[in-house]
Amino acid sequence: MTNPAVISALRELVQSGCWGNHRDFVSWLRFEYNLDSSESETLEALNQLVSDGLLEKHVSISEEFVLSSLKNAKPITRYRVSGFLQDSPIQMVRSRLETYFRLNSVREEMIVDMSIATTEAMENAVKYNDHNPIEINYSIENGDFRIEIRNGLREVQIERDIEMGKYNSSLTLMRGMMVMSKLFDDLDIDIKDSENLAVFTARKKVS
Ligand SMILES: Nc1ncnc2c1ncn2[C@@H]1O[C@H](COP(=O)(O)OP(=O)(O)O)[C@@H](O)[C@H]1O
Ligand SMILES: [Mg+2]
Repeated sequence: MTNPAVISALRELVQSGCWGNHRDFVSWLRFEYNLDSSESETLEALNQLVSDGLLEKHVSISEEFVLSSLKNAKPITRYRVSGFLQDSPIQMVRSRLETYFRLNSVREEMIVDMSIATTEAMENAVKYNDHNPIEINYSIENGDFRIEIRNGLREVQIERDIEMGKYNSSLTLMRGMMVMSKLFDDLDIDIKDSENLAVFTARKKVS
């Protein structure tokens, strides 16, 4: 029998807007609920939620489980995600954000743009952070989407970065920033060295 605690945690996760494959859910169960559910147990529980009608398999990506109806979504917009890439923090933000946008009737093309932009911001938050959880907060008000992402700062390793070819002593390639500045209307990254904190903020008119 599937652990009822796993079922109930999965219900909460998907209602909060999360979707992904069973490995994503294994990480999220561990990070958010301290539940050590194996891949097979998690898969079985997800399939049970499909039978219950809460979830369905994604139409084009067969491994992914998504909510069968937005009516069951109660998206959260302020939360923490893991600072470790293997815990699928980027998928957690991206999936919750997409669910939130759909519930707010944002058009699909805009959702794709905001997913790409937010993924770049999250990649940086994971890459440059000190592995503490990352704080996420967003809203839509008067048609304006605003997002804030806070991460701790890892010690700068400028020598290593130059060796990796990221800088030519004073210049970073800034591909992520270029992509984000095309997609967001405004963005800012405030590096507070004294507090060991990076605060990313961005705004986009979405409707
Ligand atoms: N969340 C963040 N925390 C710390 N530094 C950041 C963060 N986001 C961006 N930066 C800084 O801004 C630079 C530009 O980011 P980006 O254009 O995505 O380039 P890249 O990811 O290749 O370094 C980064 O090299 C980093 O120094
Ligand atoms: Mg980047």
